[in-house]
Parts: sequence; structure tokens; C-alpha cells
Amino acid sequence: MIPATSIAEFVGAPRDGHQDRPWVMLNMVASVDGATSIGGESRELSGPHDRDVFHALRGIADVILAGAHTVRADRYGPMRPRDGVREARRARGQHPVAPIAVISRSLAFDWSSALFLEAEVPTILGAPADCPADILDAARRVARVIADRPGDVDVAQFLGRLRQMGHRGVLCEGGPRLIGELMAADLVDEIYLTISPLLVSGVSDRALVGPEFEPPRGLRLAGLLPIDDVVFLRYELVR
Ligand SMILES: NC(=O)c1ccc[n+]([C@@H]2O[C@H](COP(=O)([O-])OP(=O)(O)OC[C@H]3O[C@@H](n4cnc5c(N)ncnc54)[C@H](OP(=O)(O)O)[C@@H]3O)[C@@H](O)[C@H]2O)c1
Repeated sequence: MIPATSIAEFVGAPRDGHQDRPWVMLNMVASVDGATSIGGESRELSGPHDRDVFHALRGIADVILAGAHTVRADRYGPMRPRDGVREARRARGQHPVAPIAVISRSLAFDWSSALFLEAEVPTILGAPADCPADILDAARRVARVIADRPGDVDVAQFLGRLRQMGHRGVLCEGGPRLIGELMAADLVDEIYLTISPLLVSGVSDRALVGPEFEPPRGLRLAGLLPIDDVVFLRYELVR
């Protein structure tokens, strides 16, 4: 593996997707000892180089997907593309701005927050159909709600709905529980992992939380980019 020489080369071009669901990329940052949060948030793990990769990945994705806890803990706002990104996306035939999509059971969100009211493209919410009607109504006023069935959101079905909406590439930014569900349902194609040059200790989650795989899943190294003390890794799932 010859290390990539630039972030654009490392991240690559938008992916084409599958017939029944989008291509699913994960992006996570972890400390050298595997912590994925500090004080319950991920931002202290991230430095300027990681933010550049984060934005480059957002730039090629059709949808940015996150679990509700991540959206609350890391205070998600709407997509605000960096300079030049809209033009590049238009030139490739993509929508100039990718929507944020959030999966939630509780729909416990502040409906007056920027994530909903300042989004150029409506935020997408995946939620149970048996959520209380007044909460679903409040959500529908400010977001595009996909509530297909009662109980938990079926992540495969939700991804299928995104594909039907024309989205070919999804970037999932976590957290570890949503990633665990996607992995358990074999819905992940690629993993981008930033190793942040920190030791954190404590009891933070690893990048994936869920039942142990038996046998463990194999990965193929598809990209490597060291910048200063940070290492960026790109793995493909072996199928
Ligand atoms: N290091 C990194 O790269 C990184 C990335 C992301 C997050 N994080 C950190 O990870 C933590 C959050 O991650 P997390 O694993 O605890 O939570 P998470 O995966 O972000 O979100 C879990 C929540 O998502 C909703 N959800 C998940 N699956 C669902 C389903 N099938 N149907 C309906 N709703 C579903 C539920 O929302 P409701 O609670 O609304 O019901 C659930 O409580 C934070 O500390 C964050 O800072 C780190």
C-alpha cells in the first residue's frame, strides 16, 4: 500500500451505490487507546487535519447519517459546505448540499434548532411510526420524516428509502451504537478511521458497540495517509 499524498486522493470520488441501497461509508476518529469521546463529545479528538478529511468526505456523500445521541452530544447543525464544494458537487451531478439524516426512537430534539430551521435541504428523520402523533407532527413541520413501521427503525429499510430518493452514497458519522446496527446488518462498505495522537484512558466506547461478531469481520486496507502525528486509515469490508 503506497500512502496517499493528499486528502483528496485518500478520500476518492463519490461511490456509485448498490441497486437496493446506497454505498455506506463510516467515518470515525479514535485516540491511540481506542477512545471515541472525551467528556461525552468527540470534538476534542479531532484536529485540523481530521476536520479536513471530515469535510472532504462530506463533500462526496449524498447524505450524512448519524444516530440521535451523536446529533445531541456533538451538537449537529445543518450542512454548510466549504468553499468550492457546491460547484464541485454540481459539476459531478450531485445536489450542491447533502442533507443530514438522523435515526431516532424518541425524536427528542429541539425543533427550533439550526439543524432543522437553517437547513438548506430538509433534515431527514428516520423514526418509529408509533411515535406519539404530536411529536411526529412537530417533526414533519421542520423535517422530512420517514416513519415506515412501529418499533425500531429498520436500518436496511431506511437505507433503501434513501436509495429510492436517489441517494447513492451515505456517509455515517456514528455513533458506535448506530454503527453496531449497520455492521450487524452487513450494511457497511467502507470504514474511514482517524487515529488521533492522544491517550485518553477512561471508559469511552470503542468505534463499534454491539454483539460480538463470530468470527470477527475481516477488513482490507484500501488507503493510508499519515499527516504530522495523525494517521488516516481507509478499510473496505471483505465479503
Ligand atoms: N469518535 C467519533 O468519531 C464519534 C462519532 C460519533 C459519535 N461519537 C460519540 O459517541 C457518542 C454517541 O454515540 P452512541 O453510540 O451512544 O449513540 P448513537 O449511535 O449516536 O445514537 C443512538 C441513538 O440513535 C437512535 N437509534 C439508533 N438505532 C435506532 C433504531 N434502529 N431505531 C430508532 N432509533 C435508533 C436512538 O435515538 P433516541 O435516543 O433519540 O431514541 C439511540 O438512542 C457521543 O459521545 C459522541 O460524541 C464519537
